[in-house]
Amino acid sequence: MEDLQVLFWILAAAAGLNAQSFHPGSCPQSPVQVDFNITKYMGTWYEIEKLPAMFERGKCIQATYSLLSDGTVHVHNAELLPNGRINSINGVAKVKNSSQPAILEVSFVTGVPDSPYWVLSSDYQSYSLVYSCFDYFGLFHVDFAWILARTRALSEDTLAQLHRKLEAAGVNVNKLTVTNQSGCDAFPIVDESNDRPIIGILAQEVRYPSPGKFSYIAASYVKTLESAGARVVPVMVNQTEEEYKALFNSINGILFPGGGSNLVTSLYARSAKIFYDLAVEEDYFPVWGTCLGFEELTYLTLGKLVLTRNNMRDVALPLNFTDDAKGSRMFKGFPADLMSDLASESLTANAHKWSLAMSSYNSNVELKKFYKVLSTNSDGTLEFVSTLEGRSTVTYHCCSFGAALIQLSAAYSYPIYGTQWHPEKNPFEFLKAYVPHSPSAVRTTFYMAEFFVSEARKNKHHFQSEAEEQKALIYNYSPVYSAPNSTFVQIYYF
Ligand SMILES: *[C@@H]1O[C@H](CO)[C@@H](O)[C@H](O)[C@H]1NC(C)=O
Ligand SMILES: *[C@@H]1O[C@H](CO)[C@@H](O)[C@H](O)[C@H]1NC(C)=O
Ligand SMILES: *[C@@H]1O[C@H](CO)[C@@H](O)[C@H](O)[C@H]1NC(C)=O
Ligand SMILES: *[C@@H]1O[C@H](CO)[C@@H](O)[C@H](O)[C@H]1NC(C)=O
Ligand SMILES: *[C@@H]1O[C@H](CO)[C@@H](O)[C@H](O)[C@H]1NC(C)=O
Ligand SMILES: *[C@@H]1O[C@H](CO)[C@@H](O)[C@H](O)[C@H]1NC(C)=O
Repeated sequence: MEDLQVLFWILAAAAGLNAQSFHPGSCPQSPVQVDFNITKYMGTWYEIEKLPAMFERGKCIQATYSLLSDGTVHVHNAELLPNGRINSINGVAKVKNSSQPAILEVSFVTGVPDSPYWVLSSDYQSYSLVYSCFDYFGLFHVDFAWILARTRALSEDTLAQLHRKLEAAGVNVNKLTVTNQSGCDAFPIVDESNDRPIIGILAQEVRYPSPGKFSYIAASYVKTLESAGARVVPVMVNQTEEEYKALFNSINGILFPGGGSNLVTSLYARSAKIFYDLAVEEDYFPVWGTCLGFEELTYLTLGKLVLTRNNMRDVALPLNFTDDAKGSRMFKGFPADLMSDLASESLTANAHKWSLAMSSYNSNVELKKFYKVLSTNSDGTLEFVSTLEGRSTVTYHCCSFGAALIQLSAAYSYPIYGTQWHPEKNPFEFLKAYVPHSPSAVRTTFYMAEFFVSEARKNKHHFQSEAEEQKALIYNYSPVYSAPNSTFVQIYYF
């Protein structure tokens, strides 16, 4: 109810600004495209005109639709912002009633009501007319409309025809605004992801430095990310802030690995803070923290330590999933059988002396606001958080964007993730008996890697030159086989 009230006031305010979209009575039952074929409708559409325009920020607005295997449609809306960055949002569209295939509902943010998406008319190859109407108790309604095209411009003739169709549907076409689609080819908004993602992994100080062994990265982290198509750059300790900043602008995500460094005073903590601060200001820069890295994230988000001592050294556990796990970005793509194995079999390797107690999470508003808990575990007495994901926050970027109403809109998700457990160990670490190696254990690692790398693919940072990229990559270093006296099979030393 609260949500609906907020929605009501936002729409009412919007309607106040745009009286053309605010009408007495119920939504008109406009006829929709007959025999609508959703398959033919897939692909990219450019926004040519819309009603109404509110808080418009970007240009070159486009929507790309792709059919998913469950019959729903993946929606990717993108625009070019004045600062040259691309703003985009992903959603899902569904046909509610299969006997009315041209009537869809689009949702971008869980918890916010779906928007109606009616295809009034489309020839699939050149134009589409989309209509959206919200009915308020039959007393009044608020409507929205879009003219979309397969190209960035439509002929005057076609536009005139489309205006007549919209008029017939009750839309005041004099109030349509034109979306700027010029100068877009210089900044093509390609839906393609970054297929050459490069992810940084923080090095950390070794406990007992020796020549050539000042800091290290366990090779299992590198192999895990490589297995899902990423390349790795070691992030050396004790670089200048300028050096870290340049590296930040060259890579597509960062991983804070486990280890034994001090969360506040170590060089690891210093570089983690620099990257974290840059990441939360960026549009989409994924950050992953494992074990120590997870603990570091809680410190960085909160600015203080709220961890509780416990003993979870060298034990594999199943995950106690919370209700939030199911709709999470992290686990959404996991196969159902793997989710069920994760919940019942000991597939997650734990090796920590500190935890974030659920009671601490629940009593720290800042942490709760920033992260969702996806799984918990217990050491017998203490219930602690085992998996975290940055929350989606809804910013008030109302209302119309790429032919879909984003109510209250543009959801921003912090792509920040933490596991107190070690996804990287299962396929690669064989020196400790507690690490699980079953097929499901190994698949867990792969799906986690595939998830994080897919997040990194959304980031478009790149090195200034190929030579710089080559110089930074981990291939310039060789791991050493460190059995039998180590926790890790192979280690990179720097
Ligand atoms: C919808 O379009 C696709 C692609 O053109 C075609 O293969 C399919 O047969 C069409 N479906 C119907 C019901 O016409
Ligand atoms: C689906 O649409 C048909 C045709 O308009 C209608 O008769 C039927 O009641 C609808 N089904 C549901 C579940 O709304
Ligand atoms: C559209 O964008 C182009 C390129 O940025 C700009 O030159 C032009 O003035 C814009 N047109 C309008 C009507 O704002
Ligand atoms: C870190 O770098 C500074 C300046 O380059 C150097 O003086 C210092 O010894 C380094 N510290 C460590 C622990 O390497
Ligand atoms: C899952 O939660 C229950 C209830 O808090 C607890 O008893 C159990 O030990 C937890 N399981 C694991 C593997 O942590
Ligand atoms: C491993 O530890 C044993 C016993 O402390 C020692 O003799 C051996 O040299 C160590 N091996 C390596 C590779 O460090």
